[in-house]
Amino acid sequence: MRRSAGFLLGMAVIVATPVGALAEPLSVAQQNAVVQKHCAVCHTDRTRNGGLSLQGFDAATVTPSLAAMMLSKLTSGLPLASIARSASDEAARTQLTKRVYGGAIMAAGIAPPELGVTLGLAAALAERAAASGSWHLSYSDGTAAKARQATVSIVREVPRQADVVESYRLLLSCDHASRLGHIQVAWSPVATTGSLVTVVDGSVHGRHAVEGQEAMGNGSGVGKGLASLSIPSLVLPSQSLVVRDLFPGEQADFSFADLPVAARAALSPCVASR
Ligand code: HEC
Repeated sequence: MRRSAGFLLGMAVIVATPVGALAEPLSVAQQNAVVQKHCAVCHTDRTRNGGLSLQGFDAATVTPSLAAMMLSKLTSGLPLASIARSASDEAARTQLTKRVYGGAIMAAGIAPPELGVTLGLAAALAERAAASGSWHLSYSDGTAAKARQATVSIVREVPRQADVVESYRLLLSCDHASRLGHIQVAWSPVATTGSLVTVVDGSVHGRHAVEGQEAMGNGSGVGKGLASLSIPSLVLPSQSLVVRDLFPGEQADFSFADLPVAARAALSPCVASR
């Protein structure tokens, strides 16, 4: 009963909040608390729903590409440009508000936070996500240089319909100690099954099955299908990687011509270069 009362309260807040009120970006501590409570319940290190753990999420160091994917899930695929516009444009703000209430903040099956909190999370993530269309290189914490894992990531938005984009995230990582590399593609907000085709520097590299079942947390409010795939034995493209046909007629183009030298070097111990 408490749960439905909280939910109703949340809904009442939407109606009551003046659209003119601009959400202040949440502080790092506030963002972390919301993500722990409403997201990490499913995205644990163990279950990794969507191929993603948010158990150790830290807003202070979130990569632009992860922030963009979280926004995609939070807003059911609103383009980043529309989210950014909501800071100054009232129509964009109204749309963001509507989208947020159909998005991932509802997935945990508990009362969502107040609207202002969710919008504040979106505003904070949007600041980080602004750079998600460019390559980003980060190293996981390990202090000893040898224990370091380098991760290179980028997001491409592919338009689907008016104000809905599917965001594709490419993640390339390299563990410098084991020299084991990993390449993952993730997509949001629509999960699916079937297959996808990878094209490396203009030649088809392979068709990869996207099959299986997610081990869901409590299973509520989440669609069927997968949201990520590990790509086996992919060489590091020199010019381009295209991911296509995951959804009919859709393709995401990742340009490697502008991969920064430092990022290529960080991956080189693990992935064969062409
Ligand atoms: C009830 C469990 C559950 C909760 C709660 C949940 N998720 Fe997810 N999430 C999933 C599942 C299952 C998938 C994969 C299938 C899909 O996308 O529907 C997924 C996929 C994703 C993806 C796409 C995969 C990727 O690697 O980019 C993102 C991003 C994401 N979730 C973010 C969030 C955020 C942010 C929250 C909190 C606001 C959240 N999720 C809350 C279960 C959950």
